[in-house]
Amino acid sequence: MSSATSPSSIQSEAVAQIERAPTLEELESLRVKYLGRNGQITLLTKEIGKQPADQRKAFGAAVNDAKNAANAALEDRKNALEAAAGPKRPAGAIDVTLPGTRRPVGRRHPLSQTAEHVKSILIGLGFSYDDYPEVENEWNNFDALGMPSWHPAREMQDSFFTETGHVLRTHTTSYQMHAMRASKPPLRAFTLGRCYRRDEVDATHYPMFSQVDGIAIDRGISFCDLKWTLYEWIRGVLGHEVTLRFRPSYFPFTTPSAEVDVFFRGRWMELGGSGMMHPQVLRNAGLDPNEWQGFAFGMGIERITLAQHNIDDIRLLFENDESFLRQF
Ligand code: DAH
Repeated sequence: MSSATSPSSIQSEAVAQIERAPTLEELESLRVKYLGRNGQITLLTKEIGKQPADQRKAFGAAVNDAKNAANAALEDRKNALEAAAGPKRPAGAIDVTLPGTRRPVGRRHPLSQTAEHVKSILIGLGFSYDDYPEVENEWNNFDALGMPSWHPAREMQDSFFTETGHVLRTHTTSYQMHAMRASKPPLRAFTLGRCYRRDEVDATHYPMFSQVDGIAIDRGISFCDLKWTLYEWIRGVLGHEVTLRFRPSYFPFTTPSAEVDVFFRGRWMELGGSGMMHPQVLRNAGLDPNEWQGFAFGMGIERITLAQHNIDDIRLLFENDESFLRQF
């Protein structure tokens, strides 16, 4: 076999040409020329068996070397040519020349807007705000408010109990016990938060809702103070043209008691309850009803929110549908 077609001479010729290949296309034709099905190095492998027995092994090794060297040179040259062509953008990379994506500005949920408004008005009237756990003991939620377990008033508040015998507060009126324990009268305090009752879901009922509950305790507090306070904050939220109606009612923790309706946009709407604090409730908190008197009120926040925005279905407030919430 002549030296021109020996594995080593084909190797050096192939490597030299590959290293100088000017384009990827020409690199590919060199790969075919040497390593393709009829490539020169490929054909050499077929010569191995034809070699005299004593040279076969060395010849085979030389062909293998040629193949490896050509492959390595092809790989190197390919990388060099691609690098010279500039960086390749990985899939999904950011094109900084494209116009930006608009990030929408967030806003408060309509229920939170109303809640914040109510809070700020009551704080402005000198009531201090506090929060307390939604998991409540039965005493604070029922018994201390004149509703022992046998009392029919409990039936109006179908409740969720925990395995430890606690109750998810059915109204924020249980705040009264926390407020009276936290500070001595005279005091003005309120809370605002979620309550829970077992209820079928429909356009006006939901097993979770929010209430605001407030109390004022002082010497010589009267129903006039209650009326003035309610007028003041409800007008602050709904506007000065609204009228209130106090309907005589019954709550186990107030006496006398009144349900409060508001005339708003041409119709009466029930907002919640109110009354003078029952002497026994004051006693349950360690206060002498001969010295201290108080009033209390509790209103639903969802009702106010629905009325403010002319929304006719309470479920919309809890579904987190962005196309609905974007309107507020
Ligand atoms: N807790 C009552 C309810 O959920 C509402 C209520 C009535 C609260 C009178 C009060 C009150 O603070 O004085 O039906």
